[in-house]
Amino acid sequence: MKKGRLCRRIAMLFVCAAMLAGAAAYTSIHVGEEEIYIKAVTSRGVLASKKPEQLYKSVKNIVSAESIHTEKDKVDAIIEKQRKEERRRREEQAKPLKERYTGKLVAFTFDDGPGRYTNKLLDGLKERDAHATFMVLGSCAVNNQEVLQRMTQEGHQIGCHSWSHTDFTKLKPDEIEKEIKDTISVIQDAGYKERCVVRPPYGAYNDEVKKEASAPLILWNVDTEDWRHKGDVKTVYNNILRDAHDGAVILLHDIYESSVDAALKAMDTLKKEGYQFVTVDELFLIRDIPLEDGTIYYSAKAGS
Ligand code: NI
Repeated sequence: MKKGRLCRRIAMLFVCAAMLAGAAAYTSIHVGEEEIYIKAVTSRGVLASKKPEQLYKSVKNIVSAESIHTEKDKVDAIIEKQRKEERRRREEQAKPLKERYTGKLVAFTFDDGPGRYTNKLLDGLKERDAHATFMVLGSCAVNNQEVLQRMTQEGHQIGCHSWSHTDFTKLKPDEIEKEIKDTISVIQDAGYKERCVVRPPYGAYNDEVKKEASAPLILWNVDTEDWRHKGDVKTVYNNILRDAHDGAVILLHDIYESSVDAALKAMDTLKKEGYQFVTVDELFLIRDIPLEDGTIYYSAKAGS
């Protein structure tokens, strides 16, 4: 009797240890005609809501379940089919864009807003028939829903830059998840229907951030340091022109009027050099670079 209780206790300790280590306590896999259903109960909850491919990868990482190995061929075939379908969909979306955007391309991105100069920027973009990407803060977006609606209506992209601008690498997984989820929900409430990419505050990330984001992580490869040169339109303008190149993702902040003025002025000059201005999604679609969840992107320049 005593011995049985001890064994149960030891077994329980093993289960707790496994769950603390993030291992799956229970895993099952069902392969249908077109879909895979994987259920893995871990210390982090049930991993059943993510995309099959991503889930399959994470399940493979945490458990070597027999069922996964026996169904491997079928699972791989379904994943390959889904990938092909995704590729076809991307090509379909890219076709009209490739006809419209034939020149050199850059993606201007604006962080930390929306702010009091965002409408001025939107006016300037409209005049120039230019698209941009706004990496918004949930805490700013929540009281500026009409600005987000305008971004959506005028063809711009909206991404998630967190709720509170806290360094994600200093947060617990559920805190990162909440920062992202709450912000995306504000973006969606404003009528934005596209998938939200994530730009972590300060561009800081680690494996946990990549996992929690469940979205492509978009950084930048041209840093204008506009926050350092706040109020100095000329320097920000010069920095943009110095570093802009085909495929670049340019970092700016629409909370500074100098950045808004410099960006619009730089667009006028770049336009004369044959540049066109697209959103991040458009840039990567046109360049045939699929954006995958949990992956870091700096630019659409070949080899970066
Ligand atoms: Ni920021």
